[in-house]
Amino acid sequence: MATSPNKPASLPEHVAIIMDGNGRWAKGKGLPRLAGHRQGAKSVRNAIEHARKLGIHFLTLYAFSTENWDRPEREVSGLMKLLEEYLRGETSNLVKNGIRLKVIGDVERLPSGLRNLLLHTIDVTARCTGMTLVLALSYGGRGEIVKAAVNLANRCVAGELTPQDIDEGVFESALFTCDIPDPDLLIRTSNEFRISNFLLWQLAYAELVFTEVCWPDFDASEFDRCLEEFASRERRFGRTSEQCLTKEA
Ligand code: IPE
Ligand code: IPE
Ligand code: MG
Repeated sequence: MATSPNKPASLPEHVAIIMDGNGRWAKGKGLPRLAGHRQGAKSVRNAIEHARKLGIHFLTLYAFSTENWDRPEREVSGLMKLLEEYLRGETSNLVKNGIRLKVIGDVERLPSGLRNLLLHTIDVTARCTGMTLVLALSYGGRGEIVKAAVNLANRCVAGELTPQDIDEGVFESALFTCDIPDPDLLIRTSNEFRISNFLLWQLAYAELVFTEVCWPDFDASEFDRCLEEFASRERRFGRTSEQCLTKEA
């Protein structure tokens, strides 16, 4: 895939998106919520294609949270079916475009058909190097952190590690995201201003961009607008503006 001539000056390496507003988009059109999710799947396709074109290396999409299991059973099963459909239809495109799939979350809770499809897609895209697409499925940030703590505690009990060995790097190595950089930019659609249990550890220094556009209407130009807003920010990581300007160590 060719690189876009409109590549912004400061492109994030990793963009994470909370894809929100499918239900409200549908309601506004007098349609059932699932119609919003179906239209949202098209935005997923477009966002992946656009990120790949621009040369973004990691794109993480929040597709289903641990809290979303509490939605009405009809909506949950509809979403699971939609995810299966999406993977069936899109796997060959991912391979063709050099996109590697990674999944974060409690995948054991997903229906076995979907789990098998995910494993298949992860397998056939394993050697793709163009971009990594991370799907957050049955994902919760608190659950991820607790899981990492339990893992490290078990390793201490087994004598592989001592509590003194545990620093931020070791803790990170026990998270789902151990092999990917933290997001530089978080986008949330649909005029909601919260994190909703997404990447609580990893978002420590992400730039947050909120847009009022509902996810089914999120297109390449809205994506570009969010990237422009990112490019206009000064990321100081605790330092002073002067230090950042002079690139002082
Ligand atoms: C996001 O859209 C999709 C998922 C959470 C699965 P919503 O379904 O949350 O849409 P709203 O927020 O109700 O409009
Ligand atoms: C966050 O959206 C989860 C996903 C986008 C998958 P929600 O719609 O579930 O978040 P809340 O409930 O409004 O915080
Ligand atoms: Mg929502």
